[in-house]
Amino acid sequence: MRIGVIGAGAIGRYLIQAVRSGMAGDHEVVVVADIVPNAGIEGLPYTTDVTTLPSYRLDLVVEAAAQAAARAHAIPLLEAGIDVMIMSVGALADEEFYARLREAARRAGRRVYIPSGALGGLDAIKAAAIAGLDEVELITTKPPVALQGAAYFETHPVDWAAITGPTTVYEGPASEAVQHFPQNVNVAAVLSLAGVGPRQTRVRVVADPAATVNQHRVRARGAFGSLEVTLNNLPSPDNPKTSWLAALAAVAMLRRLADPIQLGQ
Ligand SMILES: NC(=O)c1ccc[n+]([C@@H]2O[C@H](COP(=O)([O-])OP(=O)(O)OC[C@H]3O[C@@H](n4cnc5c(N)ncnc54)[C@H](O)[C@@H]3O)[C@@H](O)[C@H]2O)c1
Repeated sequence: MRIGVIGAGAIGRYLIQAVRSGMAGDHEVVVVADIVPNAGIEGLPYTTDVTTLPSYRLDLVVEAAAQAAARAHAIPLLEAGIDVMIMSVGALADEEFYARLREAARRAGRRVYIPSGALGGLDAIKAAAIAGLDEVELITTKPPVALQGAAYFETHPVDWAAITGPTTVYEGPASEAVQHFPQNVNVAAVLSLAGVGPRQTRVRVVADPAATVNQHRVRARGAFGSLEVTLNNLPSPDNPKTSWLAALAAVAMLRRLADPIQLGQ
């Protein structure tokens, strides 16, 4: 496939490197776009005008930039006959936008790919959802310093000095958590899409002074039985806010698109 990438950041750069090294299957990255001038990558055409991407005759555009980029460009790209992979999954927590995106893809006969990102267990949740899920919960545990900046704590103050062990600092539906904790937004959104939607998916945020990784635990219960999956994510080498697994998941999805054998759903 001829691939364009929006966002020359941690995920975009890793993905381009992976494609170039042949790790991601038989694909070629032909252009990269970013809002920042001079963020280009050696040997690749670069543009700050994302709307010009269709002129590069692309099969797929990978959005690895920001929710605003997904919102602004995904539908026009589909309408231009180009498949889209979305990393800023938080944009899809907006049910109205998600419905429009789906309809645009259907009308254009194109596909939208959403990698599992920093989360795991989504294949099992999707399968389990067919028989009915009673409960899906995401428990995110981070060191207090990784949480303190969240806007939520301006209106719900926490005595951080008093936290000496794992402490729940937020509990609520994913639909609200994505607004209160922008840094948790992608995992909450992707889990919601796989299972029972943002209003039914529960999110708990735990501050743990002893935490050294970003931990996401997924728990689900339903007619199939129950599952519990724990991710202990290390940061990406280029962006401490992004789990390395998110970039790896994007590469794995590209590899899957080039593979005649499809493993998992
Ligand atoms: N799905 C997941 O599990 C998951 C995990 C981590 C990050 N993400 C998301 O993926 C995206 C990329 O993450 P990253 O770590 O590479 O970020 P990053 O900050 O390292 O890089 C983002 C790049 O996109 C550019 N950019 C921002 N807005 C843009 C726009 N409107 N148009 C064009 N370029 C724009 C920035 O200049 C920057 O170069 C973010 O939205 C992040 O939240 C998803």
